[in-house]
Amino acid sequence: MKTFAVFGNPIKQSKSPIIHKLFAKQTGILQNYIKIYVEKNNFNKKIFNFIQNGGIGANITIPFKHEAYKLCNILTKRAQQAGVVNTIKVINSKKILGDNTDGIGLLKDLRNLKFINPTSNILLIGAGGAAQGIILPLIKFGCNITIINRTYERGKNLIKYFNNIKNLNCLKLEDLFKKYDKIKYNLIINATSTSLMGNIFNIPVSIINPDVFCYDLYYNFNITPFLKWCTLHGARKISDGIGMLIEQAAYSFYLWHGIMPNTKKIIKKYKKYN
Ligand code: ATR
Repeated sequence: MKTFAVFGNPIKQSKSPIIHKLFAKQTGILQNYIKIYVEKNNFNKKIFNFIQNGGIGANITIPFKHEAYKLCNILTKRAQQAGVVNTIKVINSKKILGDNTDGIGLLKDLRNLKFINPTSNILLIGAGGAAQGIILPLIKFGCNITIINRTYERGKNLIKYFNNIKNLNCLKLEDLFKKYDKIKYNLIINATSTSLMGNIFNIPVSIINPDVFCYDLYYNFNITPFLKWCTLHGARKISDGIGMLIEQAAYSFYLWHGIMPNTKKIIKKYKKYN
């Protein structure tokens, strides 16, 4: 049986194996999909071991998306543009093809939820691999994005990486606190790993109102700390990233097998709110 995996740290919480099991059942494809915990600095070795043992495709999650990009021999256009990789496929038993299905998966979920339109003004919290992977599809859709990150330099680096593209800018956290009453955001996306660690990113409370959409790229067994904080301060339209996870997984599945699973019923089963 063909073997697939998700690589990450932490990985215990990952729902990818369950989702891929449902896709396999739905499409009649036989596959084995496992979770692989990777110690920091051991990513390449783990991937090469996996391939040597017959693994032919994988998802890459926090915090290895940059490393996955560097490891690939060939990149899809989406991965080239994103500069980070969340899906790999082994070709002819040796070459590694890298793709990025995060951005397209997120956009699909946000559109399904009616959380986004081409004029949306987005506050993107975070500037790591997860944030980098979703920026371009949202900008191409027409949105304006402001990045806010604990380490301002990392946000600035992303602006440089995307060649100062129109509609993408970065604010210092203290400036967001000074200007928040003059700027209206329609959608706030948490792309930091804080929800996985149980922390909260400190943004001005007044940015939250009943009309603003709040989306967390991550998901937990319970409501994520970020969404709990937003709700506490008046947000009514919230969603965790389970829909994105299922949509991006479907695009990965398509890359591996050439068949697009139907995601609707699976999302309905796993969505907890809205
Ligand atoms: P990923 O590839 O999933 O994005 P990453 O590259 O490790 O993982 O990036 C993690 C993101 O979460 C970064 O934006 C990080 O902020 P820094 O660039 O300042 O490190 C953010 N992050 C992690 N822990 C945080 C915390 N306790 N408070 C605020 N931001 C945090």
